[in-house]
Amino acid sequence: MARRPTKQPTFDTKRLSVRPYRAGDLKGLHALYSDAENLRYWGGAAYTLLDETRRAMRWHMAYRPRDYAMWAVTEKKTGRLIGMVNYHHRHIRQKRVDVGWLILPKHQGKGLTSEAMRPVLQHLFDDLGVHKVEALIRPGNKPSQALARRLGFRKEGGLVRDRWLVSGVWHSVLIYGLIAGEER
Ligand SMILES: CC(C)(COP(=O)(O)OP(=O)(O)OC[C@H]1O[C@@H](n2cnc3c(N)ncnc32)[C@H](O)[C@@H]1OP(=O)(O)O)[C@@H](O)C(=O)NCCC(=O)NCCS
Repeated sequence: MARRPTKQPTFDTKRLSVRPYRAGDLKGLHALYSDAENLRYWGGAAYTLLDETRRAMRWHMAYRPRDYAMWAVTEKKTGRLIGMVNYHHRHIRQKRVDVGWLILPKHQGKGLTSEAMRPVLQHLFDDLGVHKVEALIRPGNKPSQALARRLGFRKEGGLVRDRWLVSGVWHSVLIYGLIAGEER
């Protein structure tokens, strides 16, 4: 079992290539992170300036598997960047990690994020030896809760109060958990 991959994997699915970021992704990434309406339940504020996304590109392109990894979700048909999936806050000793997902509005409702996430979850369980994956989701974010359930996550407990600080405002979240072997 390769517990310490040095090269970030790419995942090919039926419709997608889920691959590491490249410098040429800047504009595509900015389209994702500047859409305040799509990011209304996000754990951070939308970017307004391309320079903010340019700074974010640096940590999107870095590969720090002991902590986090970011993937560009691209359409095989067009090569276009349409989304982002990641893991973050990896806790090596506890074999636990958080995940995040985001896709452009016009590509939502087609099962594309679940298609992108399945190999990422498999990678976490099979290659990194993770035991539990968690997703923190705002109560109003029904599409994200539906996605979590579709992937096999279960809601755990109630509202975790004031977990995210976004532009000076505190937000409470729900925790969805997926234990190795429960994935769908
Ligand atoms: C949450 C989010 C990533 C879900 O993206 P998505 O690609 O629509 O999610 P899924 O892959 O689960 O697709 C599910 C939808 O595709 C439909 N679908 C169509 N074909 C499908 C297929 N082959 N497999 C699964 N679902 C399919 C489902 O019926 C469902 O549609 P519905 O929502 O109308 O019922 C997206 O809404 C988003 O980017 N939101 C903004 C960012 C955000 O809030 N992120 C989460 C923060 S916690």
